[in-house]
Amino acid sequence: MRKPMIAGNWKLHKTLEESSQLAAELVQQLSTINDRDIVIAPVFTALASVSKKITNSPIQLAAQNCYPAETGAFTGEVSPALLGDAGCHYIISGHSERRQLLNETNQFINQKVSATINAGLGAILCIGETLHERETHQMLEVLTSQIKEGLAGISTTQMTRVVIAYEPVWAIGTGVTAGDEQAQEAHAFIRGLLQGLYSQEVAEATRILYGGSVKPNNVDGLMAQTDIDGALVGGASLKAEDFIRIVKFES
Ligand code: G3P
Repeated sequence: MRKPMIAGNWKLHKTLEESSQLAAELVQQLSTINDRDIVIAPVFTALASVSKKITNSPIQLAAQNCYPAETGAFTGEVSPALLGDAGCHYIISGHSERRQLLNETNQFINQKVSATINAGLGAILCIGETLHERETHQMLEVLTSQIKEGLAGISTTQMTRVVIAYEPVWAIGTGVTAGDEQAQEAHAFIRGLLQGLYSQEVAEATRILYGGSVKPNNVDGLMAQTDIDGALVGGASLKAEDFIRIVKFES
């Protein structure tokens, strides 16, 4: 049985103080939760301080990005090893905002996934189609290439450190969530891809999160779907009350 995961992607929000305050409130409210993984992804500048706040709590820390190098002349970049040093357990790669704004390719994202795993951290690989790709019936082809190219060279053993996040781009930040069945259909397709690339065992063991306007009023329906193993939450993760309700989903 896959342990559910609820992850909050705070994106470019919250000062050091605001990040620490939110983390402290989440620790207070979620300290007894042990049947699901809880992950928060603050901005880089808040990672070390939030890490201290969540120590000895069930909450785990993620970075929103990394650069696939161990060290060197890469001005402005941050390595998986240094993110682990700052207390991170996971690193998000392939978020659609970075694919769109920074033209990150599947190949570059694959390097990030590999570097994350090699640094001993968990990789949250984001995939998802745009509205145009869905409306022009390219969705399955896009998801297939994002999975195949994003996981190139990742072994069966390394897959134990991979979490997939399916985030239909047209649902991110729009308030338009994929319907429960719509999301389930995509998740089942992704799980089928993993079976074909690896094995039924890997496919069954890999968690596939849904992301895209997850809110307190829709999380229960999403989590009731067979192949939805959790959520990657944006806007609703910035308010303790909303994120706590999402973490406490009932299905
Ligand atoms: O990474 C999660 C994010 O893209 C979803 O954002 O605001 O639609 O929950 P939001």
